[in-house]
Amino acid sequence: MNSQLQIRTEPLSRNPHLLRWVEKITRLTQPAAIHWVDGSQEEFDALCDEMVTHGTLTRLNQQLWPGCFYARSDPSDVQRLEDRTFICSYSREAAGPNNNWAEPYEMRRHLRRLYDGCMRGRTMYVLPFSMGPLRSPFSHIGVQLTDSPYVVASLRTMARIGLDVFREIDRNEKRVVPCLHSVGAPLAPGQKDVPWPCNAEKYILHFPESREIWSYGSAYGGNALLEKKCLGLRIASVLGRDHGWLAEHMLILGVEDPHGEKTYVAAAFPSACGKTNFAMMIPPQALAGWKVTTVGDDIAWMRADETGQLRGINPETGFFGVAPGTSAATNPNAMATMTRNTIFTNVALTPEGGVWWEGMTPEPPPECLDWRGERWTPQIGLQTGRPAAHPNSRFTAPVSQCPSVDPQWEAPGGVPISAIIFGGRRASVMPLVYQAFNWTAGVYVGATMGSETTAAAAGEVGRVRRDPMAMRPFCGYHMGDYFRHWIQMQRRFSVSPKIFHVNWFRKDAQGQFLWPGFSENMRVLKWIVERVQGRSLALETPIGWMPRYDDMSWEGLDFSRGRFEELQSVDRAAWRREVLAHEELFIDLHDRLPPEMIYERELLICRL
Ligand code: GTP
Ligand code: SPV
Ligand code: MN
Repeated sequence: MNSQLQIRTEPLSRNPHLLRWVEKITRLTQPAAIHWVDGSQEEFDALCDEMVTHGTLTRLNQQLWPGCFYARSDPSDVQRLEDRTFICSYSREAAGPNNNWAEPYEMRRHLRRLYDGCMRGRTMYVLPFSMGPLRSPFSHIGVQLTDSPYVVASLRTMARIGLDVFREIDRNEKRVVPCLHSVGAPLAPGQKDVPWPCNAEKYILHFPESREIWSYGSAYGGNALLEKKCLGLRIASVLGRDHGWLAEHMLILGVEDPHGEKTYVAAAFPSACGKTNFAMMIPPQALAGWKVTTVGDDIAWMRADETGQLRGINPETGFFGVAPGTSAATNPNAMATMTRNTIFTNVALTPEGGVWWEGMTPEPPPECLDWRGERWTPQIGLQTGRPAAHPNSRFTAPVSQCPSVDPQWEAPGGVPISAIIFGGRRASVMPLVYQAFNWTAGVYVGATMGSETTAAAAGEVGRVRRDPMAMRPFCGYHMGDYFRHWIQMQRRFSVSPKIFHVNWFRKDAQGQFLWPGFSENMRVLKWIVERVQGRSLALETPIGWMPRYDDMSWEGLDFSRGRFEELQSVDRAAWRREVLAHEELFIDLHDRLPPEMIYERELLICRL
């Protein structure tokens, strides 16, 4: 079982730009070896064997969890770091107040010093990846140079990697997005490595004009899997702005109604606010005949086709999903997806060589090792208040293994998108669901979205902040320009997608969720799809169209009219405060805010 990686120093590409760049970075970072990644199973197995030897990975009990591994990160490297993430555009204005901006030349100078010799004693992997199916008009190619084998193994699940991508790079002279990544932990000769090398100093840099990504010091999630937020959203949002398409923090799902009619919707919820769960939902039994299929759970790239229909792809091939809260009861499809070929990071390890996290089973295991590697029992958990799994612990699993995967999920032309749903995590104010009056009003709804912060990023949890379109941490340019781009997209549509807002997280006076959520969200989705098809009724309210109790299906759920009214209530006083919070966002974005946003706010105020 212990194969050794056959280092492939011989380049797998003849692209002169790529070769020159690899040479340049080699001179700068001085790795002990260079390996060109072919993406094969043998290569993956050898990489994992090496990581098991070094303690980066633990092989899980293969009887219970075939092909699965467990990783424990350094305790300081567990989340996205928004305050270490920078947009290094030429001008500060281009990055906007929604981003940390840093002067590109200064930042390059500083990072070059950090990168100098930073891969000593390590292997540098040349890792090509395609976002989207190869040769799809939606797709973009990146090449990540990284000294983290964990990143290489993870990306094999998250994106299309390897030989085919090198062939595509050589076939056409299409530009690739260069992504430089180092954990920032060079090894002196003879120095013993640690299981999760990283550096206390971390940078995640984006150069939007030259379409480059530089990441340093972290090996975790969106800081290090550069396909995801860095290319898939921050750089892609800039490409989308320039070429008339949208790169969004959205899931895509298909809904099949009892007549077999299919409707695809995209939904933007902020990090750890329910995209993965919604994308894989299994409708409750009482809604027989309705079926949900999964196209993607985190990123959507969308454009209007020649007929004016919005179409979207999931550019990724894997899920990097939140573990805590995921169970056979809340998300059986996710549980089935991760039964094999999955890397678990920062969950708890059981004595049988299995994994556990809060919410996975009603009862915790009698004993396990927590995400820091320390002994944990329910008693210890109670006494110390420490969870067994880190709140941002995750699973990395292939989309193809998801039982609900949509037959069209890899279609090069994407799937037609008929509705867009925005949703935040709001304990108050926001009702379960409403529909915006039209496209521009819907853009306003998305633009002014608020949500409580979560453990997906470092910082305080549970504070409401404006998170426009769930893109606040991911839009690579000025948010005002981004709103304008959204408004202008309408010109490309023959029929504009309908826009909705949902909130699964409203609480009652006792602090309990008013809405059961998860599979019951199908009732909301059903109303949405029927609205799109022109088949369901709604009430006009100051904020938009809302379902009345009798416009929704309640078979199999004991949910009273009174509770529904509480859930859907629009409290005018609370909405006044909400509109003032919109105003604060608009003041920040003032110099580039499209006038449509002001008009929409005025209309909302009039209606309120
Ligand atoms: P990222 O991967 O960070 O972008 O997150 P995500 O948007 O995919 O969130 P995910 O589906 O992983 O859900 C995050 C947390 O929200 C989990 O702990 C879920 O259990 C919880 N959650 C998801 N859907 C619901 C819901 O309908 N109701 C409630 N109460 N909780 C939910
Ligand atoms: C998110 O934070 O929205 C994620 C996880 O999807 S990460 O890949 O770390 O960005
Ligand atoms: Mn996400």
